Amino acid sequence: MKRFISLTVLVIVAVLAAGVFEARAAKPKIMILATGGTIAGAQAKPGEAGYTSGTFSVANLIAAVPLLEDLAQVSGEQIANIGSQDMNNAVWLKLAKRINQLLATPEVDGIVVTHGTDTMEETAYFLHLVVNSNKPVVVVGSMRPATAMSADGPLNLYNAVAVAADPEARGRGVFVVMDDKIFSGRAATKTDTTAVETFQPMNRGVQGAAYFGKNRWFPPPGQKHTTKSEFRVDKAETLPRVDIVYSYVNAPRDMVDALVAAGAKGIVLAGVGDGNTTDAVLAALTEAAKNGVVVVRSSRVGHGLVRRNIEVDDDKLGFVAAEELNPSKARVLTLLSLMHTKDPKVVQQYFYEY
Ligand code: DGL
Repeated sequence: MKRFISLTVLVIVAVLAAGVFEARAAKPKIMILATGGTIAGAQAKPGEAGYTSGTFSVANLIAAVPLLEDLAQVSGEQIANIGSQDMNNAVWLKLAKRINQLLATPEVDGIVVTHGTDTMEETAYFLHLVVNSNKPVVVVGSMRPATAMSADGPLNLYNAVAVAADPEARGRGVFVVMDDKIFSGRAATKTDTTAVETFQPMNRGVQGAAYFGKNRWFPPPGQKHTTKSEFRVDKAETLPRVDIVYSYVNAPRDMVDALVAAGAKGIVLAGVGDGNTTDAVLAALTEAAKNGVVVVRSSRVGHGLVRRNIEVDDDKLGFVAAEELNPSKARVLTLLSLMHTKDPKVVQQYFYEY
C-alpha cells in the first residue's frame, strides 16, 4: 500500500512539475535593457517634487513589478543609467548593437528599453530605423519617479512587457508604450513637461491601447522600418553630426555659421509656421547647402507637415522638406541618411519613405 501511495505522489509531483515547466516554457522570453530616466528615478524624500533620474537598477525595476512573471520570462541588462537629456551616440550605438545581437538569437522573443522621456522620441525613432528584426522592441519610461505616490512607471513597464510579449506586435516596428497607449516609435512625441499623458502622436501613429496588459491593435504604420530599413549601424563607431537650429523673431545667421564651422554635416531647421525662418538664417542655410551640408526644413509647431516649395523654394535652394517629422525626428533620419548620401534629392526620398 505504502509503495502505491509513494508512487501516486511521485506521479502527481511529476505531472505538476511538467505543467509548471510547460507553462514557463510557453511564456515569451523578454529582455529589459535599462538606460536610466525617471522610471528609475528616486526622490530625496517622499513627497518632494525633486528627484534624481537613473537611481534604481534594472533588477530593482523588475522586482518592483512581480506580476511581470505572469506575462513572460523576464531578464534584464543595464546598458546605461543616465537622465535621457544626456543620451548620446555611444549609448545609442551600444543599445542598437545589443538589441540586434539579442534578437538574432532564439533565446529572446522581444525587448523592452527603459528610458528617460526627454529624448525617448529620438531613441525610439532611431531604433525604429536601425533594428534589424521583426520581433517587438518597446521603449518605455515614466513621468513620475519610482518612489512617487501613484508612480506611473510600474504599470507602464507591465504594459510594455505585455506588448513585447504579444505576437500581434511583430513586424510593426519599434513602439513607445506610455500611459496605456501604444505608439509607433516614428510618431510618439513628448508634448507636456510633467503630465503622465505627455506622449501624443505628431500627426498619426497610435498603434493601439494597452490596458493592464491587454492590448487592442489598430492598423500598422505605412513607412519602412526595422527589417525593411536600409539603415544599419552594427558596424558603426560614430554617427554623422547633425544639429538643429531653432527659428524665432529676428533670428540671426550666426547659429548656422557656427554649426557649419563646427563640422555639422546636416542642419535641421525648427522653423516657424510651415518651416519658415528669417532672411538671415535662410541666407546662411542656402550657403551651407551650396557647401554640401544637408539642410532639412522642419517646424517648431509640433503638428502638421512641412512640404516642399510652399513658402520656401526648396528646389532652388537645394533643401529637404521634413514632411511629417518634427525637428528631433528629422535629425535622426538626416544623420542616418548621411551614412549613405549627401544628395538632398536622395535624402528627400528617404523622408517620403521613412
Ligand atoms: N531627466 C529626464 C529624463 O531622463 C526625466 C524625464 C523622464 O524620464 O520622465 O528624460
